[in-house]
Amino acid sequence: MKDQYNREIEYMRVSVTDRCNMRCLYCMPRGVIKGAHQDILTYEEILQICEAGVLLGIKKYKITGGEPLARKDCPDFIRRLKSLNGVEQVTLTTNGIFLDEHLSELKQSSIDGINISIDSLDEERYRQITGTNLSTVKGIIKVLERGVELGIKMKVNAVLLKENRPDIIKLASLAREYPVDVRFIELMPIGEGALLKGPQMDPALNILKERWPDLQATSEKTGNGPAHYYTSESLQGKIGFIDAISHRFCDECNRVRLTSLGMLKPCLCYEAGTDLRNLLRAGASTAELTEAMKVCIYGKPRAHSFQEKEQITEYRRMNEIGG
Ligand code: GTP
Ligand code: 5AD
Ligand code: SF4
Repeated sequence: MKDQYNREIEYMRVSVTDRCNMRCLYCMPRGVIKGAHQDILTYEEILQICEAGVLLGIKKYKITGGEPLARKDCPDFIRRLKSLNGVEQVTLTTNGIFLDEHLSELKQSSIDGINISIDSLDEERYRQITGTNLSTVKGIIKVLERGVELGIKMKVNAVLLKENRPDIIKLASLAREYPVDVRFIELMPIGEGALLKGPQMDPALNILKERWPDLQATSEKTGNGPAHYYTSESLQGKIGFIDAISHRFCDECNRVRLTSLGMLKPCLCYEAGTDLRNLLRAGASTAELTEAMKVCIYGKPRAHSFQEKEQITEYRRMNEIGG
């Protein structure tokens, strides 16, 4: 369906849990209180919402968390979602810790793509950023490789921080070794991200251009997200940038979000949304659910206001929203 600014909304990011087995300093540092189990949407409730979403033309779904694979039976949920009538694409964004053990099942669930967050390939810096030892996800590069071998579209995400500046070339080199896209993400001032300052994207691009002088912008897109890409003859994959702040991409926004507690959020930047869990648990019919979603999606704000901090009304952390 189209929103009030004539944007086609066809993609929903679904956070299946606010729990995570990492403690990234920009997302869910130590001591964060998690939602109670009974408050988190059940898989059945999420599927009901997605069925209503399909009726509104939302055919692409991104599964996020917290760490989605930390929730029991996530691959089976993905299989069920993928086999819903009208669902065209289901992809996953994960920190990779549990990926090795679930990769085959995800492939069998007909997953359409997997993004792995890897903020550094250096032991010390990885631990500093994620609160986790790199050895815990030691097989991560092997898993990336296996995913490629299985024919899954694999991408790497790295949030740019001052801590991982020395890692830019090493991370980008994954696109030289494998046919995977490596995307650098500008830190957004949501949740813990509001307390940190991430570096500008342009210096990162300059560092990359020094290493690969033929790097050039391409209009070719991979996936449905806001990343824009660069290619080089020396790289198998592309280098992407997700720079919500320095290059606002809201005019092309195609998405809404479902938090783990069941709030349908039309824009990342604002707290406002529609409580679908309340509706579902009060016994709403699919028609009522669809109508509520329609109103929420139609009213999607024109753009974020990350530059005007006092206008950001979102107080939840990324682990609940799903990034
Ligand atoms: P694909 O490329 O289709 O896999 O999707 P994606 O890049 O949207 O997915 P991913 O989950 O890997 O998200 C990467 C980063 O983009 C995260 O930091 C998200 O928070 C950010 N992001 C995704 N969608 C939006 C959006 O609509 N607005 C903003 N500001 N950031 C977004
Ligand atoms: N700014 C930008 N990206 C973020 N992510 C989590 N928090 C933030 C933030 N404040 C990223 C994760 C993951 C994706 C789902 O969102 O690193 O790659
Ligand atoms: Fe869409 Fe809001 Fe993200 Fe802008 S900030 S791209 S409007 S979700």
